[in-house]
Amino acid sequence: MASSSSSIRSINSSAAEFPVTRPRRGFRANRVGFNRVFAQANASSSDPDLSVTVNGLTMPNPFVIGSGPPGTNYTVMKRAFDEGWGAVIAKTVSLDAAKVVNVTPRYAKLRAGANGSAKGQIIGWENIELISDRPLETMLKEFKQLKEEYPERILIASIMEEYNKAAWEELIDRVEQTGIDAFEINFSCPHGMPERKMGAAVGQDCALLEEVCGWINAKATVPVWAKMTPNITDITQPARVSLQTGCEGVSAINTIMSVMGINLDTLRPEPCVEGYSTPGGYSSKAVHPIALAKVMNIAQMMKNEFGDKDYSLSAIGGVETGGDAAEFILLGADTVQVCTGVMMHGYGLVKKLCSELQEFMKKHDFSSIEDFRGASLDYFTTHMDLVKRQQDAIRERKAVKKGLQSDKDWTGDGFVKETESMVSN
Ligand SMILES: Cc1cc2nc3c(=O)[nH]c(=O)nc-3n(C[C@H](O)[C@H](O)[C@H](O)COP(=O)(O)O)c2cc1C
Repeated sequence: MASSSSSIRSINSSAAEFPVTRPRRGFRANRVGFNRVFAQANASSSDPDLSVTVNGLTMPNPFVIGSGPPGTNYTVMKRAFDEGWGAVIAKTVSLDAAKVVNVTPRYAKLRAGANGSAKGQIIGWENIELISDRPLETMLKEFKQLKEEYPERILIASIMEEYNKAAWEELIDRVEQTGIDAFEINFSCPHGMPERKMGAAVGQDCALLEEVCGWINAKATVPVWAKMTPNITDITQPARVSLQTGCEGVSAINTIMSVMGINLDTLRPEPCVEGYSTPGGYSSKAVHPIALAKVMNIAQMMKNEFGDKDYSLSAIGGVETGGDAAEFILLGADTVQVCTGVMMHGYGLVKKLCSELQEFMKKHDFSSIEDFRGASLDYFTTHMDLVKRQQDAIRERKAVKKGLQSDKDWTGDGFVKETESMVSN
């Protein structure tokens, strides 16, 4: 069984010191008795424990609604809590929703094995959806109502603003007053509003990110997760900057820049809006291997440079099964977000995710998430090291084979060679 010593926090290293001195409302003692209440309705006492505590926030399971349509209003977020999701991250909000104008269609799907029909399994999903187009006041009222009705459940607000310190401060202040438990900062929306220096425009520019994270972390009094874009050469760079400038956690990945396809009848790109399109964000099963690689990169960086700190990692991308989630946790993730999976399978998906994750844990005799978190991370190395390991292994196998293992192995034809093989020199 893996032990917690394999967790990404276990290795002390030469992390730079960037202490966050402000009091954080989210850092509170674990709420005893809260664990195992939700989404483990059928759990027996012998079932592995799925509860996690991340940056002081206790969740009944590691499954979090990722920011997007599944967290877009009170009704759907309430549904997520009722079905048992570990936490909900709401659709990203900004100060002025009037500037957010969406188009339709805004989604396009990639199907595997469609073979000319529309019935193949959905493996990829592109969206050109912007952040929430609902008035901030409305969203704030709904956050407040949710926190009043579900005080023990974890509600995380996703926020994004222009390159303007006062605007970020106002947004943080107003959202915090609703009682939300933490922030996730959308530094990663791949489409829309780069001219306003929003989303990925900040997440792809470490100097800008450092400045904006500085403003955010000087103001926020609850834990802050920085959501990373995969549309960058080295995702560890913005992840490192976010943690160095006071964020408590990193989330990865947001969607991957994509063009879903070209309609070979009309010759127009998809999704097609009045005959035209724009690159969008790719999600769902097809992005899972890419997300695993990005999460692995960030987890290694966090382990090597911040291993002694209580920072968290929330993994996102193409999760539809408990096994998908187990993979992220094995790389060091504390929580696992699901967005497109909920859009395809509904909120009840969390029950399947929990039972499949528990089945995996039972198979390996893991009793808690910490038992296996980060357990696979040490098995990544460089290609050069793989070559060396293989050469060593071959040499070892040859050495074992050298000479006869037993007298019954002597043959008449090879007798002289067999004798020679056992001579030392
Ligand atoms: C339709 C749609 C809308 C999204 N809107 C947001 C958003 O408002 N804010 C955000 O941070 N991420 C947004 N995302 C990104 C998801 O939260 C997630 O990072 C990404 O889709 C990969 O995860 P998945 O494969 O589970 O969907 C959106 C994704 C989709 C598909």
